[in-house]
Amino acid sequence: MTFEVVVCGSSNMDLIAYVDRMPAVGETIHGHTFASGFGGKGANQCVMAGKLGAKVAMITKVGEDAYGTATLENYKKVGVNTDFVFKTSEASTGVAPITVDAKGNNSIIIIPGANALITPEEVSAPAVKQAIETAAVLVTQNEINHDATLEAMRIARHSKTLCIYNPAPALPSLPEEFLVLPDIVCLNETEAALYTQVPAINDVEDARQACKKLLARGARSVLLTMGATGSLYVGKGDQLHNERNDNAEIVDIFVRAQKVDAVDSSGAGDSFVGALAYYLAHYGASMSLKTAINRASSIASDSVRRKGTQSSYPTRDTLPSSLFDADAEMKL
Ligand code: RIB
Ligand code: NA
Repeated sequence: MTFEVVVCGSSNMDLIAYVDRMPAVGETIHGHTFASGFGGKGANQCVMAGKLGAKVAMITKVGEDAYGTATLENYKKVGVNTDFVFKTSEASTGVAPITVDAKGNNSIIIIPGANALITPEEVSAPAVKQAIETAAVLVTQNEINHDATLEAMRIARHSKTLCIYNPAPALPSLPEEFLVLPDIVCLNETEAALYTQVPAINDVEDARQACKKLLARGARSVLLTMGATGSLYVGKGDQLHNERNDNAEIVDIFVRAQKVDAVDSSGAGDSFVGALAYYLAHYGASMSLKTAINRASSIASDSVRRKGTQSSYPTRDTLPSSLFDADAEMKL
């Protein structure tokens, strides 16, 4: 079976507390609403690509518990292939307690559980390997066993499957291979600040410097998302569907974000990554990178208007059809 987008990553159950403001250390506060939903950066990105119409598969591991069973059912319900969903009795399904304040800001704790137990051997088993090799796009993050993530990215690199790597959550140090293997390193401003050891990324110029630092460390291209500000791509060329050329001229693309009334920003970054994967996989070289980034950005902005992570992602039928037209900018 071949898929447009294969995601190798996490499955979590999100346990969301809605509060007026974040509690301080040692403080107990009242929240006003609780919600649980399917999450995990990997799962979210996969479901987003699927909701837009991509043929998607998920490589992941869950526990043999109620959350694991529910996660599997959710994948089936939303049309994600589950042939590569592994199970373990050694750990529980990953969970993520999340706090969302009145401004839609979030803070998240991840307890990886089963996500940490997926092995490189499982990722390189013949059927799984073949799914990565024949996919248009592979997507990875930092929420599972890192050796398994690297294995998936190595397979993608060898088979020229386009790889989007979202190095989130940020690791204290990122071995070079994580930057060199993928085609696009897609991260937000806090992650970029940590990886490049700049104090903070406050504007587009800071972002450009951070991207260049990551290119200097071997990344082919960097896509830095800055929430309400927009996103900046800096890469060695913009023809990601072609062979990598480390001597290509540096291309710089900035896309402004749409203004929305933020209700809940949790999962917005994953919405962006999943939508980008859909566009790159489905339209290939017939769509300019700028158009793909622009459309992924408007889909992520739309998700911020609703509560929850996956549950806030729009399906194709609720979005303007112009988001699925051929690339107007590419027409001569
Ligand atoms: O990016 C949002 C996601 O981070 C949540 O769904 C949570 O599960 C954590 O993985
Ligand atoms: Na949301």
